[in-house]
Amino acid sequence: MKVIILVGGEGTRLRPLTYSIVKSMVPVINRPFIEHVILKLAAHGINDIVLAMGYKPDSIFSYFKDGAGAGIKLTYSLEEKPLGTAGAVKHAAQHVDDTFFVLNGDTFSDIDYTEMLQLHRRNKAMATIALTRVEDPTLFGVVETGPEGRVTAFIEKPARDQVTSHWINAGVYILEPAVLDYIPDNEFYMFEKGVFPALLAKGAPVYSYASQAYWIDVGRPSQYHRLNCDMLEGKCSSPLYKAESVIIEAGCAIHPSAQITGPARISAGCYVGEEVHIQGPAVIGCGCRIEKGSLVENSILWDNVIIGAGASVIDSIIASGVKIIENARLEGQTINQDAAADHATK
Ligand code: GTP
Repeated sequence: MKVIILVGGEGTRLRPLTYSIVKSMVPVINRPFIEHVILKLAAHGINDIVLAMGYKPDSIFSYFKDGAGAGIKLTYSLEEKPLGTAGAVKHAAQHVDDTFFVLNGDTFSDIDYTEMLQLHRRNKAMATIALTRVEDPTLFGVVETGPEGRVTAFIEKPARDQVTSHWINAGVYILEPAVLDYIPDNEFYMFEKGVFPALLAKGAPVYSYASQAYWIDVGRPSQYHRLNCDMLEGKCSSPLYKAESVIIEAGCAIHPSAQITGPARISAGCYVGEEVHIQGPAVIGCGCRIEKGSLVENSILWDNVIIGAGASVIDSIIASGVKIIENARLEGQTINQDAAADHATK
C-alpha cells in the first residue's frame, strides 16, 4: 500500500535547535525522525512510500537512497513551489489508482494503521481522518463527528470559547483516488480548508478514526525533547528502539564512579568521567565527553558534545559539537550549533 508523507518545504527546520538539518532528519534516539515513521508504516505493510517535499532531499536521499536496504520502496516527489498539504499530495499522486495513506511529516504516533484501514473499508469511506484527543485544541484543527464517526465539520484553531470537541485532526488520512478530483493541479491547496469541506459539502462519505494511541506533533523543540524521552521510557514504540534501562554502546569509557540511572542511551565512543551523574531519561550521542563531576538529567545530547567538569545540564537539548563550559548550569535550554562559541567562552 502507498503512503504519501508530507515532509514540507525548504524552510522545514526544528528552529531554534537547528538551522541546517531538515526536520525529518533530526535524530530521535540517534536515528532520523523520519526513519522511525517509515519503519512503523512498513510494519503495517505500508511500504510504498513517497516523500513529498519542496526541496532537494540531499541528506534524506544519501541516507535512505531508494529504500531497498530497508525493504521499502521510497520515491521522492519534489515541488517547484509551495503547494500546501493537498496540492503536494496531488503532485505526488499522479499515478495513484488505489486507496492510499497520507501522513503529516511532523507528527509521530502509535496509530494502528491496519485497524484504521479496516474501518475505512467497512465504512466504504472516500476519506478517513485519524483523530487524536488533546487537552488544548486551540492550536489544532478540531473535527466534529456524528453517528458512526461520520465527520460533520472542521473548525481550524478554534478560539477558547468556541471549543466544541477535544478531538483534533491527527494528520493521518486514508483517501480514495476520487479525492484527487477535488484538488486543483499545480495550485496551493490545503486539506483542512479546501478538500475536506468540499467533500462534506458534496455529502461524500468522510469518516473519522478516533485513536487513543500515543500522538505528538514535533513542531517545536520542547515536543521533540518529549518524544525522545517518551520513546526512552517506552510510552511510544518504534521498530528502531526497545525501551531498556541503560544502553551503553561500543567503545565507551565509563569511569567506575559514574552513576547512570536509566532510561539512558550512551552512544558509541563516549567518555563519561569520574563522579558524573547521568539521570535518565537521557540520550548521549556518539563521541560525547562528559567531564568530571557533571550532571546530565532529562536531556538530549547530539553527537560530539562536551560537557565541562562540574556543569549541570537539566531538561535541555544540546546540538552536535557544542561545548558547555565548566561549572555552567543549563536548565530547560535548547542549544544549537551556532551557540557553541557562546557556551564555550561564557
Ligand atoms: P500549522 O497548521 O501552521 O501550525 O502548521 P503544521 O505544520 O502543523 O500544519 P500544516 O497543515 O501546515 O502542515 C502539515 C504537514 O504538511 C507538515 O509536516 C508540513 O511540513 C507539511 N506541508 C505543509 N505544506 C506543504 C507543502 O507545500 N509541501 C509539502 N511537501 N509538505 C507540506
